[in-house]
Amino acid sequence: RGMRSLLLCVVCIALPRFLRADVFEDVSVHDETASVGQPTAFDCVCYPPTSGKVDVTWYKYPSKIPVSKNIQSRIHQDQSWILFLPLKGEDSGIYQCDTNDTNICPRMQINLIVFQKHWCGSSKKNQLNVSDEYKQILQVGKDDILICHLNFPNSFVLNSVKWYKDCKEVKGERFISRETKLLVKNVSAEDGGNYACQAELMYAEKQHTVLNSISVTIKRVGNGRRIPKIMYPKNNSIEVKPGSTLIVNCNITDSLDNTNPRCWRVNNTLVDNYYSESKRVREGIENHTIFPEHIFYTVNITFLEVKMEDYGHPFTCHAGVSAAYFILKLPVPDFQAYFVGGLLTLTGVVASAVWIYNIFKIDIVLWYRSTFRAAGTMEDGKLYDAYVLYPKPQRESQSHDVDTLVLKILPEVLEKQCGYKLFIFGRDEFPGQAVVSVIDENIKLCRRLIIIIVPEALSLDLLRNMSEEQIAVYNALIQDGIKVILIELGKIKDYTALPESLQYIRQKHGAIQWSGDFTEQSQCAKTKFWKKVRYRMPPRRCPLSSPVRLLKQTPCDLTAGKWEANVGFIAP
Ligand SMILES: *[C@@H]1O[C@H](CO)[C@@H](O)[C@H](O)[C@H]1NC(C)=O
Ligand SMILES: *[C@@H]1O[C@H](CO)[C@@H](O)[C@H](O)[C@H]1NC(C)=O
Ligand SMILES: *[C@@H]1O[C@H](CO)[C@@H](O)[C@H](O)[C@H]1NC(C)=O
Ligand SMILES: *[C@@H]1O[C@H](CO)[C@@H](O)[C@H](O)[C@H]1NC(C)=O
Ligand SMILES: *[C@@H]1O[C@H](CO)[C@@H](O)[C@H](O)[C@H]1NC(C)=O
Ligand SMILES: *[C@@H]1O[C@H](CO)[C@@H](O)[C@H](O)[C@H]1NC(C)=O
Ligand SMILES: *[C@@H]1O[C@H](CO)[C@@H](O)[C@H](O)[C@H]1NC(C)=O
Ligand SMILES: *[C@@H]1O[C@H](CO)[C@@H](O)[C@H](O)[C@H]1NC(C)=O
Repeated sequence: RGMRSLLLCVVCIALPRFLRADVFEDVSVHDETASVGQPTAFDCVCYPPTSGKVDVTWYKYPSKIPVSKNIQSRIHQDQSWILFLPLKGEDSGIYQCDTNDTNICPRMQINLIVFQKHWCGSSKKNQLNVSDEYKQILQVGKDDILICHLNFPNSFVLNSVKWYKDCKEVKGERFISRETKLLVKNVSAEDGGNYACQAELMYAEKQHTVLNSISVTIKRVGNGRRIPKIMYPKNNSIEVKPGSTLIVNCNITDSLDNTNPRCWRVNNTLVDNYYSESKRVREGIENHTIFPEHIFYTVNITFLEVKMEDYGHPFTCHAGVSAAYFILKLPVPDFQAYFVGGLLTLTGVVASAVWIYNIFKIDIVLWYRSTFRAAGTMEDGKLYDAYVLYPKPQRESQSHDVDTLVLKILPEVLEKQCGYKLFIFGRDEFPGQAVVSVIDENIKLCRRLIIIIVPEALSLDLLRNMSEEQIAVYNALIQDGIKVILIELGKIKDYTALPESLQYIRQKHGAIQWSGDFTEQSQCAKTKFWKKVRYRMPPRRCPLSSPVRLLKQTPCDLTAGKWEANVGFIAP
């Protein structure tokens, strides 16, 4: 009620429709329409509202007789109000209120037009082309309210309000009536139309019924009609390579009547200002497309060249109160490429490790043995480290070489320098022992079998130089799993002459080829040939003795490398 009074006041002060200058100097006149049969009231509008501090008197113009103050009268004044209980057709005319303080309440006239209202049940519309309808708006999709405007003094007490839509009482759980308000939940388009509120008021112990018509229109406000919606960017990141050109659109939808500015900012500064010197990053010219219900705007930002300093900072598009940014990111490295690369690298590393190991395998193993192996004997019940088996070649010179190797050099290096214990046939057997029993008994006490192969002996016929028993025994041994070390004294042309078991061993484990001279002095356990032999021998710390003694007895000097190069290893 206060709102309406205020509104009227503003209207009458700011927009006087016309002044009747011939009657009064300063009087505002405004039209009011009201329908017959309704209780009706008008206030003498003061600003600020006074509540009795001002004397108000109502007249029916041009009469100078004040309106009655008797509450029993159909038309009377109550405080600053003039009441019609109820209004009749004859009441049309001009009503004027005078006050004793024209500063607060300037003179006011009301041009009251009374008409016959045809409500539900009447086929005729309002006869006069005037309407006392209130216009109200409901917003689709929201909970909204309708108000029953009751413009009466405080002395009127509200009893009840009933709501009608298109002449039917409004019912349903979506509608809640409270005092003069009707709450409409989840407004839909169908809620528009002609409403009416019927209020029962008590005044002076009498009940009065007021009926207001309300024309309700539905507005599709919803999705940010006031708040611009930024469709893009969406606070996302963009992968871009440094040095490239980049254009990013800001896409915005906004209401048709918006006055929002749109811009790009970085570090809270307009990009055009931020890059005012280099002009490397610029805001584009805004473009818009008008649709029936909204406007679609695009504003782009152009990076002529993306630089490292641009990464990781938000570039924000602003549209009115809305803002959304994007952040530049360095492209994620191609995972697959990395994976394949990593795999290749790993393969390479493994391959080189295997390659290196193969090259230095012997040194690594020997070094390991000499570093971590104790010099003690092994507890496997065997007496000898190796059984040396060799043929007796026919030719004198060869026979001498073989004898030197077997009886001098082997014991010198393996026994003296490395501490191995060898059983050499022709040296260690007891005289008079049967050959077969010697081999049979002693070979079982050995951890390795060293077989020396002489090419010429082969071509002549190995079998003639080795007893059948011997062959049978080492065949059995090989089957037992004893390890065999083949040493070839020179190149062998025809391996098929070898017994099958030896061929097999040679294929599987290879043979060590001897090359070099047969002088006792040049032998040193540290040369390549002997390393190969030691590698195949049972693990033992070697050389045993102190370097001083070694140097004295066997010169392991640098010259050793010279012939070492000739010592080949025949791979299978
Ligand atoms: C107007 O009348 C009221 C009440 O009678 C009084 O209080 C007030 O002082 C008067 N104002 C003027 C300006 O005379
Ligand atoms: C009646 O009101 C309508 C708008 O509501 C207007 O277009 C029309 O001119 C008015 N007619 C008269 C006679 O005033
Ligand atoms: C509002 O009404 C619409 C149909 O008019 C319905 O689809 C929607 O689920 C309703 N929403 C709520 C919150 O009840
Ligand atoms: C932004 O709008 C432009 C112009 O309509 C369109 O070409 C572009 O695809 C839109 N960008 C995004 C990210 O939606
Ligand atoms: C970016 O804006 C500029 C200036 O308004 C315009 O010339 C250019 O075509 C726009 N680029 C894109 C991709 O929209
Ligand atoms: C602006 O938008 C219109 C319509 O969408 C389009 O034809 C025009 O090319 C756009 N201009 C620029 C500079 O992007
Ligand atoms: C924004 O400011 C910070 C320091 O306040 C600076 O490190 C950064 O580089 C600036 N952003 C851009 C895009 O230049
Ligand atoms: C994006 O970030 C802005 C603040 O810069 C925030 O106001 C907005 O709600 C964010 N939008 C989304 C979709 O997260």
